[in-house]
Amino acid sequence: QEDSFKNVISHAKEYGYIFASSEIYDGLSAVYDYGQNGAELKKNIKEYWWKSMVQLHQNIVGIDAAILMHPTTWKASGHVDAFNDPLIDNKDSKKRYRADVLVEDYAEKINQKAQKEIAKAKKRFGDAFDEEQFVATNPRVQRYKAEEKEILERLAKSLTEENLADVKALIEELGIACPESGSKNWTDVKQFNLMFGTKLGASADSATDLYLRPETAQGIFVNFANVQKTGRMKIPFGIAQIGKAFRNEIVARQFIFRQREFEQMEMQFFVRPGEELSWFEKWKETRQKWHASLGLGDEKYRFHDHEKLAHYANAATDIEFDFPFGFKELEGIHSRTDFDLKAHEEHSGKKLRFYDPEMGENYVPYVIETSIGLDRMFLAVFSASLQEEDLGDGKSRTVLKLPAVLAPTKAAVLPLLKKDGLPELAQEIVEELKWDFRVQYDEKDAVGRRYRRQDAAGTPLCITVDHDSLEDKTVTVRYRDTMEQKRVPISELASIIDKEVNF
Ligand code: GAP
Repeated sequence: QEDSFKNVISHAKEYGYIFASSEIYDGLSAVYDYGQNGAELKKNIKEYWWKSMVQLHQNIVGIDAAILMHPTTWKASGHVDAFNDPLIDNKDSKKRYRADVLVEDYAEKINQKAQKEIAKAKKRFGDAFDEEQFVATNPRVQRYKAEEKEILERLAKSLTEENLADVKALIEELGIACPESGSKNWTDVKQFNLMFGTKLGASADSATDLYLRPETAQGIFVNFANVQKTGRMKIPFGIAQIGKAFRNEIVARQFIFRQREFEQMEMQFFVRPGEELSWFEKWKETRQKWHASLGLGDEKYRFHDHEKLAHYANAATDIEFDFPFGFKELEGIHSRTDFDLKAHEEHSGKKLRFYDPEMGENYVPYVIETSIGLDRMFLAVFSASLQEEDLGDGKSRTVLKLPAVLAPTKAAVLPLLKKDGLPELAQEIVEELKWDFRVQYDEKDAVGRRYRRQDAAGTPLCITVDHDSLEDKTVTVRYRDTMEQKRVPISELASIIDKEVNF
């Protein structure tokens, strides 16, 4: 697992997808830059989301609110008082950690012991192995599972303001050592607000304290009435947004999974009170279909319903993805009741209601939220697509099987040789296709090496121009995933690419 994750990170850099931010100054922890291919993949993921959420839903519209918001927003939303992580310092190394993550990592190690036992048995019994039965009856696996469950349950109970001392007690009882120094000398656990503060205004005296938004959702809530009135929206309707969010995360070691500056794609769907739970189910299904449509493999996803709900929610689930470091949250779907709109009504003194002509009533709508991290979706797509394929005869190739609709470059146009008018014809093809697709011209190295390079960069199609092309106006199209090659007329290229990359 660790190796495949390292491979993902180095491949992302080598092919211009992701760089450490300000790398020439040794980077900035948990901040990343997207390179020439990464920016395209990210843009395509956004577009795929926006099209399916906004363009295909007549009752959903999109906005683009500011990152800086009136500071009262965060008082009303609860972020000033309750958007905290429990932190603990190691007294010897002076390093700071998230206390809950230290415990979770400990529990994960126990889980890995159980997985090892299962893998060993699988090897021993081969085809006859019944994993479910083995897990249910093997005493060692049962013991590991029970131990992991107990630790996580105790952690969940102690993660409230009053019980934080229990987290420290748990860390001490389990003998968890500082990952860097091995020391077990811990401070008390303290809450730490995750919002980034900044200042508005020129002089220190008159400056106002602001926050960089920690979620995009509040930009939607504060614009509820503006959009509802000017768009003449009728309940049920949704408002979608894609944009940056900032959190001063302490855990900083899962590449772009947990960053300090990241992007969210969020949609708030406003419904009649009492109808929220059936909409919650509908949105779970809709979002699942969206993920499935990309073809990364249904086994890569699972739902994780929340048993413990935030005070404003009456249902919540995560869509988890099988990242290179295991199943982790990719998207959250939350039934947020009328909590946010009511809180903004109270703090602003403005009415945030809807007059429902069918009911003849004014009410504060209930909200179903779908919230997905763009960078996490990027990591999901990228890591699931990166494959080492055995070609037989001791040969293999590295191929990035990105869904064609998301691939940064849709086709590479390759003259077989750098002479005899082949580059000119290849350039002509590029000039024609570039209006509809992002295509790339590549003439360097032998054509086999160029194919491999495009495979590794994730380009779904290669178009090769040879001497016959000059005569009969046909070219070879090679498919990344099957390596199949077909001879086709140049005049049909646009429709062939279109068929491959559109949704
Ligand atoms: N408006 C609801 C909200 O913000 P959240 O579960 O805190 O809920 C939603 O975040 C999504 O944003 C997560 O499922 C995850 O994909 C993404 N996300 C959250 N924190 C992140 C971080 N530090 N880095 C990258 N993505 C993050």
